[in-house]
Amino acid sequence: MKIAIQGAAGRMGRMLDTLAAGFGLEVVSRVDVADGYDRGWAEGVEGVVDFSHHSALPAAIAEAVRRGIPYVIGTTGLDESEQAAVAAAAESIPVVQSGNYSLGVNLLVELVRRAAAALGPEYDIEIAEMHHRHKKDAPSGTALMLAKAAADGRGRAADGFVYGRRGDVGERPEGEIAIHALRGGSVVGDHTVMFAGELERVELVHRAQSREAFAAGALKALVWAKGRGPGLYSMRDVLGLA
Ligand SMILES: NC(=O)c1ccc[n+]([C@@H]2O[C@H](COP(=O)([O-])OP(=O)(O)OC[C@H]3O[C@@H](n4cnc5c(N)ncnc54)[C@H](O)[C@@H]3O)[C@@H](O)[C@H]2O)c1
Repeated sequence: MKIAIQGAAGRMGRMLDTLAAGFGLEVVSRVDVADGYDRGWAEGVEGVVDFSHHSALPAAIAEAVRRGIPYVIGTTGLDESEQAAVAAAAESIPVVQSGNYSLGVNLLVELVRRAAAALGPEYDIEIAEMHHRHKKDAPSGTALMLAKAAADGRGRAADGFVYGRRGDVGERPEGEIAIHALRGGSVVGDHTVMFAGELERVELVHRAQSREAFAAGALKALVWAKGRGPGLYSMRDVLGLA
């Protein structure tokens, strides 16, 4: 399968390029705004994996619709209109979108959903994430996935999260789900979901040790998406966890 990498010069893009052949994928277009990279896709591209910048997504996914080829989105930090463009594209082509492509995090999402349901509202949910100093968006897409899973486990809407705290915030209301983003050094990606009760505290932790975990998952998703019908799929679908 001939593929294009969006964001090919980046940390993830270079890792995808290195691993692609091992998944039977041939990288024929390496797209990036950096010097020496392609500005578009060659004829005959059969699938795209995107770890670039969210602002570039609507135009790129529209081109995938025009060509009728699958699109795997690793890029995070999409705003509402960018997410709407993704949803519209998924009516015509298979799109896989995940804030995290590692097996471990996708398992963690399931564990968080179960823990949130089992532990009940008297256990306060706090999520902390840490990433390297170069990461541009906050909180991480993974932290948002975890927050949504926790909300789902509690049977509440997946919005209204608290992002950090400052000043005279008052007592913590029951049912709040808060997210905290730390940045520094070369941390690939750490996530902790805390369930803090009166008598005990449960912490579920994931630490990524290499970007390879994300890149391999995204390439696996692209192979999986080939030949699927249109739809917006997640890594849960790819891994058969759904
Ligand atoms: N879903 C996951 O599992 C996962 C894992 C790691 C990173 N990410 C996300 O992937 C994205 C990239 O992460 P990274 O660490 O590789 O970042 P990076 O900054 O190292 O790489 C991004 C690349 O995209 C390029 N780029 C910017 N605008 C572009 C455009 N208009 N067209 C084409 N290329 C463009 C940049 O020049 C850069 O080379 C981020 O959104 C990050 O949060 C997701």
